[in-house]
Amino acid sequence: MAFLELQGLSKMYGETTVVTDFRLSVAKGEFVCLLGPSGCGKTTTLQMVAGFVPPSSGRIGLDGRDITDLRSNRRGLGIVFQSYALFPHMTVAQNVAFGLEMRGVATAEKSERVGRALDLVHLKALEHRYPRELSGGQRQRVALARALVIQPPVLLLDEPMGALDAKLREEMQIELRALQRRVGITTIMVTHDQSEAMTLADRVVLMNRGRIEQIGSPFDMYEQPNGRFSSTFLGKANVFEGCSKGGSFLVNGLSLPVARGVPAGAADYIVRPEKVEFAPHDAIVRGRVSARVFLGNHWLFQIDTPLGAMQLTHPNSGLPRAKEGDEVGLTWALESVHVVARGAES
Ligand SMILES: Nc1ncnc2c1ncn2[C@@H]1O[C@H](COP(=O)(O)OP(=O)(O)O)[C@@H](O)[C@H]1O
Ligand SMILES: [Mg+2]
Repeated sequence: MAFLELQGLSKMYGETTVVTDFRLSVAKGEFVCLLGPSGCGKTTTLQMVAGFVPPSSGRIGLDGRDITDLRSNRRGLGIVFQSYALFPHMTVAQNVAFGLEMRGVATAEKSERVGRALDLVHLKALEHRYPRELSGGQRQRVALARALVIQPPVLLLDEPMGALDAKLREEMQIELRALQRRVGITTIMVTHDQSEAMTLADRVVLMNRGRIEQIGSPFDMYEQPNGRFSSTFLGKANVFEGCSKGGSFLVNGLSLPVARGVPAGAADYIVRPEKVEFAPHDAIVRGRVSARVFLGNHWLFQIDTPLGAMQLTHPNSGLPRAKEGDEVGLTWALESVHVVARGAES
């Protein structure tokens, strides 16, 4: 049995189901990200694990125990929510010590554990400061230390970096990842930011409208999206609606190559922009460059083709490969194509 088992969790508010049959097994030490658009049920799912929202159905098991009906404070989980403000009238050390005081931990042990937690987040030097004297990133690290100091079996994070600017956010992500691996704490984090999920997670749980769309490592999910939603939420994708028939794929009267064994029927043909290449000869499709955008490490081209608008990215190797208005040929390898039957994704 997995360390944390979420067995068919559902949540209804009145007639509306906001989370449907959420099933997930989390291994000890694993870092799982719940990823999905705003309103898809990520926070509700996390709140059910935390014990703040009772599930309408389903069970939660932790380390072999059923904790579904346990009150949140008896679950002893470490929680960092964006809105979980620090106590403004307490110093950094006092904020971190708070959870231990609630648990009646003796003074000597308490100060040792607070010291260790602050060391973990590199804030020992600031232990006497008040929250108002800290930057956003430092406050977030205090919140982390406060969650970690109770040595919880599971750490639950809900958009903990939502308030930070992009650069700091990226630094904090790398720091959090290192910290999580070092402590080895089982972690579930909610985010709507795909690059954050990819940076942090061992496994991503992609959600849409209250349901799980796909579960996998960032690499597997990126390389093997199971449908239109996955391919466009995690990264970018060219998606063409069409029909697989007799070893090829028909879109707008055009025939595209597919690998052997692709089943016949209505489907989406998916190919990522970085897998599309310029092809002076033997193009699969031809078109005209309608836009070219320079993004530093790569170029993004938009190309009008008979299939519809396509995107192609090309690493910046100095000179751009084409300019706006150019007629170009495009090709891609069969291995880069995903043909997913329409309606196959839930
Ligand atoms: N207490 C509540 N009462 C009614 N509807 C709610 C409540 N909490 C959340 N919802 C609804 O449930 C859906 C999922 O919300 P939430 O879990 O917060 O999504 P996310 O965190 O993915 O943005 C939303 O449509 C939201 O409006
Ligand atoms: Mg949320």
